[in-house]
Amino acid sequence: MPELNLDKIVSSLNIRIDNLETKEDIEDLKKDFLGKNSLLSEERKKLSSMSNEDKKKYGQKLTELNNLLIDTIEKAEVSFINELYKQKEKSEFSDISVNWFTHNPTYKHLLSTVMDEVVQIFNSIGYKVAYGPEVETSWHNFDALNTPEWHPARYESDTLYTKDDLSQLLRTQTSTVQIRYMENNEPPVYIVAPGRVFRSDQLDATHSPVFHQLEGLAIDKNLSFQDLKGTLEYFVQQFFGDSVETKFIPHFFPFTEPSAEVLVKWKNGEWLEILGCGMVDPNVLTNVNYPSEYQGFAWGVGIERLAMLRYGIDHIKNFYENDSRFLGQF
Ligand code: DAH
Repeated sequence: MPELNLDKIVSSLNIRIDNLETKEDIEDLKKDFLGKNSLLSEERKKLSSMSNEDKKKYGQKLTELNNLLIDTIEKAEVSFINELYKQKEKSEFSDISVNWFTHNPTYKHLLSTVMDEVVQIFNSIGYKVAYGPEVETSWHNFDALNTPEWHPARYESDTLYTKDDLSQLLRTQTSTVQIRYMENNEPPVYIVAPGRVFRSDQLDATHSPVFHQLEGLAIDKNLSFQDLKGTLEYFVQQFFGDSVETKFIPHFFPFTEPSAEVLVKWKNGEWLEILGCGMVDPNVLTNVNYPSEYQGFAWGVGIERLAMLRYGIDHIKNFYENDSRFLGQF
């Protein structure tokens, strides 16, 4: 009976398996170890000339070898194909997501942070949030706000009109939301209106043609200038700190009477204007058909101005360039 060195056969098979490179290599492998000219089939040919007993024994050995080869080759094929797919997937995978870890994403824009904080301060003393459109009628932006025909703010050099007859414009102030809200709601009113406003301004260190304001309006029975002062002083202290000094100086706005500007005393002793305010002009309340026993106060504050003061930002354009080296600092 011929000698069959199983170990040798298996180890030569394993060497071939380790060196597989293509699917064709697997087919060749099958042919070489199980095909017509394989060692196995050569050995099988010998069976016919053997005695019955040897035939049985040797036949059994060859069957064992056959099963072992089939089993090993099958396993090798499966793992080879899997590996092939993995490589293919890897080479075809394109990562379209931004690599956020190198872009430090997890901050809000500074203007949003400041706006949210200001809204939150007024929320905490009972003011609700209201919104209005950015494209407005001249009625809401000027007439209803008691702004006379001759007022310089109406000039085309200040206001961006969207209709030739000047009846429609990009709102120049969030004060428009006062009118919109009162037209649709009965008093009492305690609202703040955050939003974008537009002016025909050149960009310079402190002015931008698009910027953000927060409007405030309180309408009730028995509101006085004292309530206005207390409310805005509270706001300033919440935003800039308890020790900040404020001062109210007379001013003029068409929609308030009397009107004032609020100034805060800065570190170098300078007084800086941060908002406009006043008692709502009775003409405004008449324009929205509010009963005469109601009165109140209003204010408008620029968000960029607040942020620039608090963080010592020297140019307004920093807010709009979206440079993450700037925004990432806050
Ligand atoms: N609308 C004014 C502006 O854009 C700001 C302002 C001043 C709003 C006085 C008010 C106010 O409500 O009472 O300059």
